[in-house]
Amino acid sequence: MEKEKKILYSGMQATGKLTIGNYIGALKNWVNLHEDYDCFFGVMDLHSLTVRQNPAEFRKNARLIYTQYVAAGLDPEKNCIYFQSHVPAHAELGWILNCFTYMGELNRMTQFKDKSAKHADNINAGLYTYPTLMAADILLYQSDLVPIGADQKQHLEICRDIAERFNNIYGDVFTIPEGFFPKTGARIMSLQEPDKKMSKSDENENATIYLIDDRDAIIRKFKRAVTDSEAVIKYDPANKPGISNLIEIYSVVTGKSFEDVEKEFAGKGYGDFKMAVGETVADMLDPFHKRCDELLADKTYIDHCMKENAEKAAYFANKTLRKVQKKVGLTERIR
Ligand code: TRP
Repeated sequence: MEKEKKILYSGMQATGKLTIGNYIGALKNWVNLHEDYDCFFGVMDLHSLTVRQNPAEFRKNARLIYTQYVAAGLDPEKNCIYFQSHVPAHAELGWILNCFTYMGELNRMTQFKDKSAKHADNINAGLYTYPTLMAADILLYQSDLVPIGADQKQHLEICRDIAERFNNIYGDVFTIPEGFFPKTGARIMSLQEPDKKMSKSDENENATIYLIDDRDAIIRKFKRAVTDSEAVIKYDPANKPGISNLIEIYSVVTGKSFEDVEKEFAGKGYGDFKMAVGETVADMLDPFHKRCDELLADKTYIDHCMKENAEKAAYFANKTLRKVQKKVGLTERIR
């Protein structure tokens, strides 16, 4: 069957507070793509279990992230926005793919090494097989394109390797996905350690602008952003990572080029510039906050979206899962 539009798949873990890095680097790009592709966006709650969670907080946060997807402009009528755990096919295909993945491959994953170092008291098997579940996420939907950050490249590579291995044995079962790295959307760096990526799990609250931060918090954090002592607003990431990060943020939010930003603030102090960046980001988030509040107040609407979209996702996922089960020789269930 000829597919009309290409299929695009992405998602985020269901834990942590989303940041402006997630907003600019992922969500807003997804919104730009959602007309041109058939899109699936998952809230990856099974992946979140690889780290111990407080159940009540986890549940609340996962729902907030779902709501933020919608508030950012992803359309639950046109795209499929759903919770990973609501579609059991993910876990089922994940198991099968485990049996087609070598420990040697998983041992090479840098994220596994990093996370094992960070959670030395809980190096569980889920953390180890994280990439096979992610491969299942992507392959279940016959995805063509997967927008991801650079830190997920290795996981996409292993997904492609597993898919190719499977196809070599059983014929063309899976579409081999490509990574998709949108041009805009920059890498937003920490406001406190600007040579590190802004992260939703940073312990220093001042390092990160969260999507739930109000105007005062946003401006306060930008005012405290680490810069340098040169007092020149110039894009030079190697020598002036702090200022360059602020220029980058201001540039993506306003659509102005780096040169135009430099011109606009020539001769001005860092204080003025930080204030301007803070105001601009707060202005950008104003309508998003309003939409989020509306959606949070309308429980039935979000419930409805969750239900419909999980059914839609399951329909596509199950098609692939059935095919895989048949190929590997599992006995067909009598219905
Ligand atoms: N591992 C991804 C991250 O931490 C989240 C994720 C899980 C994902 N499954 C996916 C992203 C499938 C893209 C496609 O960012």
